[in-house]
Amino acid sequence: MAPRRRTAAAVLALTGLLLFLSSPAAAAAEDGELRMKHSGDGYHYNSTLAHILVEYASAVYTSDLTSLLTWTCPRCEGHTKGFEMIEIIVDVERCLQAFVGVAPDPRSIIIAFRGTQEHSASNWIEDLFWKQLDVTYPGMPDAMVHHGFYSAYYNTTLRHEILKSVRWAWKTYGRLPINVVGHSMGGALASFCALDLSVKYGSHAVELITFGQPRVGNPAFAAYFSEQVPRTIRVTHENDIVPHLPPYFYYLGQWTYHHFAREVWLHETVVGNVVTKNETVCDCTGEDPTCSRSVYGRSVADHLEYYGVTLHADSRGTCQFVIGTSNSADGDIVQVDGTIILSRYPQEQHSLASI
Ligand SMILES: *[C@@H]1O[C@H](CO)[C@@H](O)[C@H](O)[C@H]1NC(C)=O
Ligand SMILES: *[C@@H]1O[C@H](CO)[C@@H](O)[C@H](O)[C@H]1NC(C)=O
Ligand SMILES: *[C@@H]1O[C@H](CO)[C@@H](O)[C@H](O)[C@H]1NC(C)=O
Repeated sequence: MAPRRRTAAAVLALTGLLLFLSSPAAAAAEDGELRMKHSGDGYHYNSTLAHILVEYASAVYTSDLTSLLTWTCPRCEGHTKGFEMIEIIVDVERCLQAFVGVAPDPRSIIIAFRGTQEHSASNWIEDLFWKQLDVTYPGMPDAMVHHGFYSAYYNTTLRHEILKSVRWAWKTYGRLPINVVGHSMGGALASFCALDLSVKYGSHAVELITFGQPRVGNPAFAAYFSEQVPRTIRVTHENDIVPHLPPYFYYLGQWTYHHFAREVWLHETVVGNVVTKNETVCDCTGEDPTCSRSVYGRSVADHLEYYGVTLHADSRGTCQFVIGTSNSADGDIVQVDGTIILSRYPQEQHSLASI
């Protein structure tokens, strides 16, 4: 089960630097597009749903964990009112945060992942350029991903706790569908989580929506992903830099990063004096040259806002958490291997046999 590590990024990095500095990727796209099989064509983008789910991707950035647990935080208003938190998981060492709960509309289990807070956003983004495809995805010999993205989900307490909470939710609320959401690095984790759940429980049960996520794997991985998680929407915004990273080089075959489908590109269209907010549903290749790849992606500001909703920490640039001491009736707090777990329900209830 341990992923095999490979190193083959020197060539990629060098050619990468040259190309990255030259032109929008669209220029070179035409004949190099990879032919891939797609099974997601029956799944449609729902703008109303996206406007709701982005609020969960924003709320998961809340550092006051008590107000998040009781769903009384400032970002816990609006479309997400009535959300019932099941569990918040905070990996303090790696600065990761996720939660699982049950939403009233759409009636479903929501799993949300926060983006990175480790350094400033721009440091993290700079590092993205150099990420290597250095791990073979287990069971998929040609599918390569980045070790850091992969292990942030698979090799932390997050996965264990999320799967446990999903089983608990199903036992308590019935077999609800699952919406997995995440922004930025959280979008990468959300992708691995959705893939994990789809493989485990069937792809009909899982929908994924990410906002401004980076590429996470090579073309073989993208094809495998689209097959396994056909109900996927990957939202990009104007000139957001992160969806452009790590770079895509069409001529590198399997040695390049490649997005999975289906992208929805939010951008403004100007006709005469009229500016229209345009939500373009892109093609099924994952690398539609007419969507975000048609522009130079250099904006950090565009990365931090989707659908007018703020997507960054409420305490900027830090990795701090606040846990109130007042009301123990609000839930359980336990610590496991440097991970803080806040649960609305007694922890022992979680030790269920799998469903
Ligand atoms: C889109 O999502 C909203 C919110 O969940 C839902 O009420 C609506 O029925 C959905 N529309 C379609 C066409 O599925
Ligand atoms: C998982 O984490 C442990 C401890 O942090 C580390 O020793 C191990 O190499 C990691 N495994 C993978 C596959 O990343
Ligand atoms: C939305 O954007 C797409 C792609 O950029 C463009 O083809 C389309 O005409 C735009 N729609 C409107 C209503 O401006």
